[in-house]
Amino acid sequence: MVSILPQPLSLSVGDGVFRLDGDVAVVPESTSTAEVAELAAALLTAAAGTPVPVAAAPSAAASPIELRLDTAEGAVGSSPEAYTLTVTSDGVLATATTPAGLLHAVQTLCQLVVPASTPGATDVHVPAVVVHDAPRFAWRGLSVDIARNFFGVPELMAVIDVLSAYKLNVLHLHLTDDQGWRIESPSRPELAKLSSDSEVGGGPGGYLSLADFRALQDYAAQRFVRVVPEIDVPGHINAATHVYGELMPDGKPTDVYAGIEVGFSKLTYDLPATEPFLRDVFSDLAHATDGEYVHIGGDEVLTMEADEFARFMDLCQQIVHDAGKKVVAWQEIAHAEVRPGTVVQFWDVHKKDVRPFLEAAEKGATLLLSPGNRAYLDMKYTAEHPLGLEWAGLVELRDSYDWEPEEVIPGLRAEAIEGVEAAVWTETLTTLDDLFSMLLPRLAAVAEVAWTAADRKDWDDFRARVAAEAVRWRRDGVSYHPTPQVAW
Ligand code: ACM
Repeated sequence: MVSILPQPLSLSVGDGVFRLDGDVAVVPESTSTAEVAELAAALLTAAAGTPVPVAAAPSAAASPIELRLDTAEGAVGSSPEAYTLTVTSDGVLATATTPAGLLHAVQTLCQLVVPASTPGATDVHVPAVVVHDAPRFAWRGLSVDIARNFFGVPELMAVIDVLSAYKLNVLHLHLTDDQGWRIESPSRPELAKLSSDSEVGGGPGGYLSLADFRALQDYAAQRFVRVVPEIDVPGHINAATHVYGELMPDGKPTDVYAGIEVGFSKLTYDLPATEPFLRDVFSDLAHATDGEYVHIGGDEVLTMEADEFARFMDLCQQIVHDAGKKVVAWQEIAHAEVRPGTVVQFWDVHKKDVRPFLEAAEKGATLLLSPGNRAYLDMKYTAEHPLGLEWAGLVELRDSYDWEPEEVIPGLRAEAIEGVEAAVWTETLTTLDDLFSMLLPRLAAVAEVAWTAADRKDWDDFRARVAAEAVRWRRDGVSYHPTPQVAW
């Protein structure tokens, strides 16, 4: 079976195979594809279990895997991430208009590798195919909460590897919450110093230094994954009020919080310390990020008047714009004045009144879809599942797969949908195995919702392709949940 996940736009299987155990090498067409060629060689070597080097010279390999940038408009589709992959017995040709498209072609090629250990295979090979492919949505993300429990650079690099494998292109980091402050803020060094050594249940915590954040962004950029950093205000803010008593009306710093309740902490707009704090931490974050976006949070401020909340959202949008970045915020911002270009991240499917989202879209905002009952991958698979929560519902693999983005917010124009983002909150997740067992296989389902044209999706076919992917997860020692919905 030829299995690609997420399902491509078109796939045709030809005759013959391309053998990977001969004189094979990745051939970069030019210096602009040299970096992606290095990564391709490493990924293919791992997939094949046999060395696949980068060719010393274009003519050096008898069996070339050629990476070619073809900037002619429309050559391989209208998306900058589109690609064509052609495999024959003589060679492999990947074409795209951008290096990102070429890496997608390489990830597809890796999934097509049939190892020599496969029953019936005498050599490591790739079947002859032609794949034309392009994404449905430009924003295909995963949000990871590193505040409730801290996950550092090695763990997040492992997450980025999985994002890249399934053609996801945004890593959103929820960097602050009641339990900890996880990013160095140079103008406020006390935050990481005094509020990072705690986490849910009292664990040791941790934070990303600016050097860590640099390393993470570079690793992500090599894989064409954009990092969207979030500082969550004006609620979910105990890690800051624990450091600065002046952010509290009574002037007293709050206690460390290691529980999992939400909605109890908040900033106060009219205190003199509040605006300088917001200016400092958001300017620092805007400066640290390579990306276009800064996420300002805005969720679950349960005890604040609408007017004060609106003033916060106004000020934070202004600060982020002044720093030259665009804003993302959780859906609650739709109850304030949403500026054109702001991305509103929908999450709470219990809110039935969709008018604020439609109005935000009318004003030029776009909607990023993270419906909790589909895309919150910390929800339990079943009531008996040992990890996770269930306030947004039980989310089995099929729930993550069988949904249509255009139906999430009735009445929303398709052009106003920015994309699809899964999220994993970490109240109950402390290890990388915990994290991955919640992500996989469901992240692959959300990836297919985000990438694949609606008429190319098929649940039974998807289940079979997930089983094929699990061969690689076992090879790589990656944890996943063996849901009974898949014939492993
Ligand atoms: C959220 O789940 N509070 C964004």
